[in-house]
Amino acid sequence: MWLGQLEGGLEHLRDVLVRDSLGICAELEQQMQALVDGYQCEWAAVVKDPAKRARFRAFANSDRRDDSIEWVSERGQSRPADWPRLVATSPVSAPAVAAAPRRHLPVLQTRWVDVARLSDVPLDGGVAIHHGDVQLAVFRHGADGALYATQNMCPHKHDMVLSRGLLGDASGEPKVACPQHKKTFSLRTGACLAGEVPALRTFPVRTEGDRVLVELPPAEALRELCPSSASCATGAGDAAEKVAS
Ligand code: FES
Repeated sequence: MWLGQLEGGLEHLRDVLVRDSLGICAELEQQMQALVDGYQCEWAAVVKDPAKRARFRAFANSDRRDDSIEWVSERGQSRPADWPRLVATSPVSAPAVAAAPRRHLPVLQTRWVDVARLSDVPLDGGVAIHHGDVQLAVFRHGADGALYATQNMCPHKHDMVLSRGLLGDASGEPKVACPQHKKTFSLRTGACLAGEVPALRTFPVRTEGDRVLVELPPAEALRELCPSSASCATGAGDAAEKVAS
């Protein structure tokens, strides 16, 4: 289309590029060479640098693979499966969420579990950790780097994605927006701020020197409390009731 609008058409273009009628070919060649010389593959740089590579670990507290990712084969290689097409679902209204009966939770023994170095948790970002086979997300929020811990599974589509969410605040309430469809949750209480989906489970978190500790029940009990399924999402602030630490 642009060629049809170019004065002189294809013949003019041939003059400029092949016969160098404007005398700019040497400069164009130089610019192209500068681009070629300056090109760096950002992914190759990550693969070669252990410090950068560490940022792409699935979990801050082990080298385990994230088995919640579905892989497909393509041209003799594997890649993560495409996201499923979005199907319209009826939103859960805020009053319905508020009126939902709270599950009775067993009284659980909890303890502080060392999950990561503080430096593993990026400022205004999050990392995934696992406790047994339950995935959790640890976040460092705002200028003061306040720490929060929640389930990693988004209650909307049940994907393990919240550790990669975008942090912000809603009228002073620290929040995370799911990277998929941007539903937002309070980092303090776990409540979905628009009341559309059930709340996240949240967990107490603190530091000891450069270590991040999350207060958790034993892995088996956490799986009951927060399985990798829809039942992970229940009422806000339903973290395990602590009787001892
Ligand atoms: S998966 Fe849809 S908002 Fe999180």
